[in-house]
Amino acid sequence: MRQRLLAEGANELSYEIREIVKKAEQLKKLGIRISWENIGDPIQKNHKLPQWIKDIIADLVKGDDAYSYCPSKGMLETRQFLAAQTNAYGGVQIAPEDICFFNGLGDAISKAYQFLAHTARVIGPSPAYSTHSSAEAAHAGHEPLTYRLDPDNHWYPDLDDLYNKVKYNPNVVGILIINPDNPTGMVYPLETLQRIVAIAKEFNLFIIADEIYINITYNGARAYSLAEIIGSVPGISMKGISKELPWPGSRCGWMEYYNRDKEPEFDRFCNVLDNAKMIEVCSTKLPQLAIPRIFGDPRFKAYREATNENIGRRARIIADILHTVPELTFNETYGAFYNTIIFREGTLKPHQKIKIDNAEARRLVEGWTNQPIQPDKRFVYYLLGAKGVCVVPISSFCSELQGFRVTLLEENEEVLVQTFTAIRDGIVEYLNS
Ligand SMILES: Cc1ncc(COP(=O)(O)O)c(C=O)c1O
Repeated sequence: MRQRLLAEGANELSYEIREIVKKAEQLKKLGIRISWENIGDPIQKNHKLPQWIKDIIADLVKGDDAYSYCPSKGMLETRQFLAAQTNAYGGVQIAPEDICFFNGLGDAISKAYQFLAHTARVIGPSPAYSTHSSAEAAHAGHEPLTYRLDPDNHWYPDLDDLYNKVKYNPNVVGILIINPDNPTGMVYPLETLQRIVAIAKEFNLFIIADEIYINITYNGARAYSLAEIIGSVPGISMKGISKELPWPGSRCGWMEYYNRDKEPEFDRFCNVLDNAKMIEVCSTKLPQLAIPRIFGDPRFKAYREATNENIGRRARIIADILHTVPELTFNETYGAFYNTIIFREGTLKPHQKIKIDNAEARRLVEGWTNQPIQPDKRFVYYLLGAKGVCVVPISSFCSELQGFRVTLLEENEEVLVQTFTAIRDGIVEYLNS
């Protein structure tokens, strides 16, 4: 090529959650039945939307309105509805102009980092949800900047680590929190959130809170939203319908800007995000039309509560199966629908194996693992080949820990028990081989 094509940050883009699928597809062709525990899509795991929700969407499809463009920031009535919901928390107050819609939160996330100066860094949790960490690293042309979530303390953030990294790195302009968290299922305690807001205030930072799971909590937990605790600190809450409705195929998410009147530079940043959407014309309209009708329906609360209860029951079933394995650090989850399970230090070794009966599959897995790879990736490939369970290695979530992420989405509890028993048996065989 006449010139170098790629920007510095291009190497930072990877998405193991989908990469592992390519490996699983190869094994599937050899006759291995795959349990997909890698992707957070409730619909793919056979969750069925209630008929009344489908009827609302069907009515919108039958009308004419859904087929045109909508205002760049999104439908005014929908933004009014969402602003009123946020204002009802009684914390920070917003107007419809403080909301901008995107084509899924993935679109919002890539735009949020794209327009920051290369030297302006947003520090996020590790293990990291790679859509954030890759986008942030790609903008900076450097590897992600992270604070530690502590598996020995319920996956809560290590606040000393966060404080020191913020204090000694003047490039940090923002803190990312994902609450409830993907990939750990942790729900930030109120005091932790308050402390993070205090750190942001002390160092004049803004906060990004990915709250796509904010209404998915269970087993007694409740998630505090950024709007409730942010006070006068500038911040962006990111929300969407991919998980909560759930309607991931709609590609619909939005940002809520908090306290943009308090800090001119932050206000300009919000304007740039709005302008970026304006250049694209607008985001998906049909889901925006559906949001007030569905979320405003009295049946929605009961539906969400029942769905959360089911996730909570699965969380306990998984805990019953896995928490007794002594080589694992296992935390019960209280939000979102993932769990990250860690191998204790020194338990993974390069010779370990699980017996793979299918000779072709065995050769394939041996080919993948006969080269220097992360120990947890090696385990994950053996689990895939031997038991057909597709999980994601945690080392690919910007983490030095060794482990794997599972989802809590299997609707059929018999299949759930079978899958997690297979995972446990695979772990025990691997560690004792
Ligand atoms: C924390 C988090 N943020 C954002 C997204 C992306 O959501 P969307 O489907 O709206 O792009 C996901 C999807 O898994 C997620 O887990």
